[in-house]
Amino acid sequence: MKIERLDTALGARISAVNLSVPDGLDQAGLRSAWLDHGVLLFHGQNLSPTALVQFSALFGDLEPPPASETGTRDELAGQPVWYISNVVENGKAIGSLGAGEAEWHTDMSYLPEPPTASILFAQEVPHTGGNTSFADMEAAWAAIPDDLCQAIAGRTIHHDSSTTSVGETRRGYDGVSDVREAPGASHPAIRTHPETGRPSLYLGRRRNAWIEGMDLAESEALLDRLWEHCRRPEFAWTHVWQAGDVVMWDNRRLIHRRDPFEASSRRIMLRTQVAGDRPF
Ligand code: OGA
Ligand code: MN
Repeated sequence: MKIERLDTALGARISAVNLSVPDGLDQAGLRSAWLDHGVLLFHGQNLSPTALVQFSALFGDLEPPPASETGTRDELAGQPVWYISNVVENGKAIGSLGAGEAEWHTDMSYLPEPPTASILFAQEVPHTGGNTSFADMEAAWAAIPDDLCQAIAGRTIHHDSSTTSVGETRRGYDGVSDVREAPGASHPAIRTHPETGRPSLYLGRRRNAWIEGMDLAESEALLDRLWEHCRRPEFAWTHVWQAGDVVMWDNRRLIHRRDPFEASSRRIMLRTQVAGDRPF
């Protein structure tokens, strides 16, 4: 196994590995590279849904996928795998999130115990568009301006569970009219990584968030300023996908977003998520 740091704010490329043969992998080496670099990139992999589940399970129990606005392929029934795709077969979307922009977010932070890792395998990608960016919230916290630091320190953020990163209402949920009453979970705005001990901002996603106990207008204004800070390009790395890529990231530390792409092109990704603990 070869580990090369990417020439950017975060991330490493791992080569000379075959993820479809989990027994042959240096598990401890992979885990420590993932903790060090925040996101790992593997090229040239060929994974069935079952093989992706087996690889993912090296990092912990798997969390079932989120309730999405669309169905998913029958072949995945009962497996903790999620299709992220714009492809429509027989009039039915095979996966979630369509072809639009997915705004900056961390995965499933609306759960009381959000996932530690998300793992995404690119089965089919468009010629252009649909790039995914990752940003390091440890670096964002380390660079936080004093006034923002004082305003957010010690606060708790409410994370909405009703709406996806592309702005669609999940199956079984109503739209949110008052963010203070949104369904979801509350977490500290600054969390400590349970494995590395390092602090990071933990904002979840901008849409329908509320800084608990704060006047609504004040919360909205502070969240806007925090997000503006987190979107600074020096914290981020953008991945241009090739079919066969696997990317695995630490949701406790990173946020990510996706560029839109041509709705007429095909993009098929498989996603798993490793169950986590309550943030502190
Ligand atoms: C995800 C996600 C973006 C993408 O898998 O959690 O946000 O690139 N995916 O499709
Ligand atoms: Mn996501």
